[in-house]
Amino acid sequence: MEQIFATEQINQAITRVAAQISRDYEGKTVLLVTVLKGGVLFLGQLLPQLVGDFQIDFVTIQSYGDKTVSTELNFVHDLTVDPKGMDIVIIEDIIDSGKTVRFLKEHLTRRGANSIKVAALVKKQTESSHPELQPDYFGLEYHDQEFIVGYGFDIGGKYRNLPNIFKI
Ligand code: IMP
Ligand code: MG
Repeated sequence: MEQIFATEQINQAITRVAAQISRDYEGKTVLLVTVLKGGVLFLGQLLPQLVGDFQIDFVTIQSYGDKTVSTELNFVHDLTVDPKGMDIVIIEDIIDSGKTVRFLKEHLTRRGANSIKVAALVKKQTESSHPELQPDYFGLEYHDQEFIVGYGFDIGGKYRNLPNIFKI
């Protein structure tokens, strides 16, 4: 495993994202919808740095693929807050192909969300990335193909606890 982002760099990136979101949503009530499980560390670091009226909710989206590729998606756990009329920021660990985020955006649109933006800790730029599915806010950019682990990122459920991010 090769370290690609250190804790310090991750923290600085999240502080920057928090400032952008706080500024863009000044005076509004925002619902942060975090995609479990990988997004929890990002949310945990981001939330106390946000200034304004921020509420939180969680979804679990399961894909029937292997460990590294999302194929068919469905909800294992849906929102508990009604997203109708809400301004939503999706909190994701990483946007790869963008399929997970597209699926969630479609669902939130159907349920009447007023606006939806996406914040990802890592933006992964690969051949499978759709340009129209890029995050509105992102902390770090990663250009390689290799899977990353640590700071919430897992492979087969492992390595989420590592304080730095590694490629494997
Ligand atoms: P997408 O639907 O292809 O954008 O994939 C998004 C999901 O796949 C993310 O929410 C992650 O859970 C997972 N994922 C994609 N790439 C990585 C990676 O490099 N490390 C860990 N998880 C990843
Ligand atoms: Mg995920």
